[in-house]
Amino acid sequence: MLGLYIHIPFCKRKCFYCDFVSIAYIEDLANNYLTALEKEAQKYKNEIIDTVYIGGGTPSTLSIDQQKNLASVITSNFNVSYCKEITVELNPESVTKEKLKLLFDARVSRLSLGLQSIYDQSLTVLGRLHNYEKFKQVYYEARQTGFDNINIDLMYGIPNQTLSSWEKTLKEVVKLESQHISLYPLTVEPNTPFYKKKIEPNGDLQYKMYEFACSFLKENGFEHYEISNWAKEKKYSLHNKLYWKNKEYIGLGTSASSYYKRYRYKNNTNVIKYIENILSNKNIVVEKEYITDDLYNKEKIMLGLRLSEGVDIKYFENSKDVLNKYVANGMLSVENNRVKFTQKALFVSNSILADFI
Ligand SMILES: C[S@@+](CC[C@H](N)C(=O)[O-])C[C@H]1O[C@@H](n2cnc3c(N)ncnc32)[C@H](O)[C@@H]1O
Ligand code: SF4
Repeated sequence: MLGLYIHIPFCKRKCFYCDFVSIAYIEDLANNYLTALEKEAQKYKNEIIDTVYIGGGTPSTLSIDQQKNLASVITSNFNVSYCKEITVELNPESVTKEKLKLLFDARVSRLSLGLQSIYDQSLTVLGRLHNYEKFKQVYYEARQTGFDNINIDLMYGIPNQTLSSWEKTLKEVVKLESQHISLYPLTVEPNTPFYKKKIEPNGDLQYKMYEFACSFLKENGFEHYEISNWAKEKKYSLHNKLYWKNKEYIGLGTSASSYYKRYRYKNNTNVIKYIENILSNKNIVVEKEYITDDLYNKEKIMLGLRLSEGVDIKYFENSKDVLNKYVANGMLSVENNRVKFTQKALFVSNSILADFI
């Protein structure tokens, strides 16, 4: 199994909470970026790819011609004949019918749409450039185009959001009948406008919101297959599952990570520097680490526990003390030789996972 991730670091405008690597879209800069991607892709000529994920940033900011160029970067450098899934992330504000048709014709099989909230007031607070009406228009156009595997991203713990408005959000969103939902607690990251404004999400409220989501989505036929992800009809994100199962992947673009031939790499996070370095044959890798057997087992635990299917107990050979501690306090359970989080541990999973490092 080998995945391919491509980072598109452009957005129409930066949302006030986001610290992902992205800058304002400029046509010429995006053209140069695609040239750089082409050059980076050549390093992996003819690798057989199982899943592709085009994320960002906002891939839908690219023009029609640039989307075509991106498709040719993929098809001319990789073997995607056996590919099981191609996902593209979209922000409703930059999606058109023409772009959807192009993606569909290019064999894109899965879309991930950023919604965040159904309340226009919250969307404004977050710095989003679309309203809920625009989201629905794009969502139904995507379905009419033929897409039958669509994810919707929502955030909880948004300033002024109440438990009742969150409940209404979920009730409204399940009516859209998407196959997949991702729910993220708002986190306030340094160097964002939210950080400067000293916005602090209420952790207790976020916990209640998560609890409600877990039971409500279950009642509505969604399988909670990963801490932040729910799917219907077993339409899991195959690409993300590949990460959680600790399989290898190639990451192209600024800030992209790769796990390839037993090494983990990370590319530099400055868009301009990434382009300049690639085009002048300079190094773009800022981190490189060989994954020893011991590290492999630790990662297998840290990533695999995120999945509801859990992790084979054999990987805990060197972490027995930590395992026993969390089984004793009811945070982890062991069933049929698989170690899993219990329901009450899911919301605080990050602190437990950190203990296995
Ligand atoms: C790359 S964006 C998705 C595509 C597109 N750029 C968009 O925003 O519509 C990834 C998702 O991460 C989530 N996200 C980003 N920053 C976050 C933060 N600080 N806290 C919680 N969720 C966040 C949002 O739900 C967002 O939709
Ligand atoms: S949330 Fe999406 S659209 Fe907003 S700045 Fe981040 S990557 Fe760009």
